[in-house]
Amino acid sequence: MFNNIYQNKKVLVTGNTGFKGSWLVAWLLKLGAKVIGISKDIPTKPSLFEELRLSEKINDYRQDIRNLAELRAIFEAEKPDFVFHLAAQPIVSLSYSDPVDTFSSNVMGTTHVLEALRHLQNPCVAIIITSDKCYDNVEWVWGYKETDALGGKDIYSASKGAAELVFKSYFHSFFKKENSLVKIASARAGNVIGGGDWAKDRIVPDAVRSWAEGKAVIIRSPNATRPWQHVLEPVAGYLNLGQNLSENANFNGESFNFGPRSEQSHSVAKLLTDLSKFWHFENENQAYQAVGEVKFHEAGLLKLNCDKALFYLKWLPTLDYSELIRFTSQWYYEFYQKNTDILALTFSQIAEYEQFAIKQNIKWTS
Ligand SMILES: NC(=O)c1ccc[n+]([C@@H]2O[C@H](COP(=O)([O-])OP(=O)(O)OC[C@H]3O[C@@H](n4cnc5c(N)ncnc54)[C@H](O)[C@@H]3O)[C@@H](O)[C@H]2O)c1
Repeated sequence: MFNNIYQNKKVLVTGNTGFKGSWLVAWLLKLGAKVIGISKDIPTKPSLFEELRLSEKINDYRQDIRNLAELRAIFEAEKPDFVFHLAAQPIVSLSYSDPVDTFSSNVMGTTHVLEALRHLQNPCVAIIITSDKCYDNVEWVWGYKETDALGGKDIYSASKGAAELVFKSYFHSFFKKENSLVKIASARAGNVIGGGDWAKDRIVPDAVRSWAEGKAVIIRSPNATRPWQHVLEPVAGYLNLGQNLSENANFNGESFNFGPRSEQSHSVAKLLTDLSKFWHFENENQAYQAVGEVKFHEAGLLKLNCDKALFYLKWLPTLDYSELIRFTSQWYYEFYQKNTDILALTFSQIAEYEQFAIKQNIKWTS
């Protein structure tokens, strides 16, 4: 997998206690990496990070990335070979209640990570994770390409567009030089689902929390359509990009989209109906109830064009919609049944995901 590039390497993950960060760390451990984590807190209770007991398996720092001096000290002490920067305030609704916190973590936090990288005295490959929301959403039907305009009408989207601008300016100002020790790339992915997310105001965590209490989840936009993908899809993209950047300097300063297949855009109502089948409800009214309207502006359908990742990285999404539903629903159902080893289930899902990719001959599997 990934040409064994991560085996015995020091890989620093910011946001390691979060949903995506925990899956990334689990996979890196499976690949034989020595993982270092930096996060300001454990954002949810329960959390995938705690369920997998990841703190026992990595060098785990509880640190706010807005403290530049402390962040630099960790980078200088650890001398990472790879950095995956995921730490951010990622919840759209919270960006309305605390815009300053969102901008300071997502924009200045990213600036600090790039600044810490700039002072490293060892070779390092860094992937800066932003979001599909970094694009100026003009509500068209076509997928956004990496060259499309950045923007964002809401605070979260603007913070991710701004993080991309900071990334690009650090590249042109510092990391573009042929002899630069540090190489950087950015990765843009959209809404992800999968076991172990308990974030606030996200549809799948909201649903499973309700279902675990035997209640229907209350939703406000049943017909909102989103391009759903499993968390392991962009995580494979990040690992794939890290491998390619370490092997080929031409990727330095580049950005890549990692989105699902176009046919995986479905309404919230369909997603919940399909997920709920694994919970043995008698009818879908037990799964969700639609009431009222959303209280804040959230962008409409936003699709990513992933031709660049296919052409240069040979990256493709691996799971089809029915597998996405099974992976996600099975994980939560087993978790709430409380009689499954969730650590084993998580690693077996990663292994199964690898097997799906091997069958499809996806290049990163070699
Ligand atoms: N989950 C999604 O659907 C999705 C979609 C697109 C992009 N993303 C991006 O992926 C990344 C990870 O998202 P997630 O869903 O795992 O989020 P999460 O809320 O589960 O985790 C966020 C992580 O960032 C850390 N963090 C936040 N602010 C910090 C700060 N100031 N200093 C240090 N650590 C800080 C938290 O401690 C936690 O480890 C984020 O950059 C997010 O914007 C997520």
